[in-house]
Amino acid sequence: MDFIRAQRTKIPQIVATNLANKTVLITGSNAGLGFEAARAVLPHEPGRLILAVRDLEKGNAAREKLEKFKSASTVIETRKLDQASFGSVRAFVKGLDGQRIDVALLNAGEHYGSLLISSTNTV
Ligand SMILES: NC(=O)c1ccc[n+]([C@@H]2O[C@H](COP(=O)([O-])OP(=O)(O)OC[C@H]3O[C@@H](n4cnc5c(N)ncnc54)[C@H](OP(=O)(O)O)[C@@H]3O)[C@@H](O)[C@H]2O)c1
Repeated sequence: MDFIRAQRTKIPQIVATNLANKTVLITGSNAGLGFEAARAVLPHEPGRLILAVRDLEKGNAAREKLEKFKSASTVIETRKLDQASFGSVRAFVKGLDGQRIDVALLNAGEHYGSLLISSTNTV
């Protein structure tokens, strides 16, 4: 019980990490845990933070809110990624054009009671 209670009451400190010149990718970062993760990463001054979101308008609104937490050395980008569509995932990867991702926090998702099939369901 203590473990479960601690999960709900204590926010663990993030270990200081040198992310200078590193690229951090966070999916589903316009809201919820992904947004909070983005906010928590910024004090570690990554070179680049990619907000991968399915709705660019929401992503850009989140980026604007996050700007005040970043240092001058960090660039925040918003990129479209709908994980329910293979086509969108492929386009996202193609858009990265081989650029290195150092940290990937794959957070995006929802809980569905039923099976959801990709809108472009070919691999
Ligand atoms: N919160 C919890 O206590 C908890 C506990 C266990 C597990 N989780 C898991 O942790 C993850 C985040 O939870 P949360 O509470 O932060 O949820 P949330 O507030 O609903 O945020 C979910 C994020 O994922 C995005 N997203 C949903 N479907 C997507 C898709 N197909 N492609 C790309 N992005 C998509 C949402 O974008 P939109 O804003 O466009 O919808 C939003 O940015 C989820 O996978 C959830 O199941 C959460």
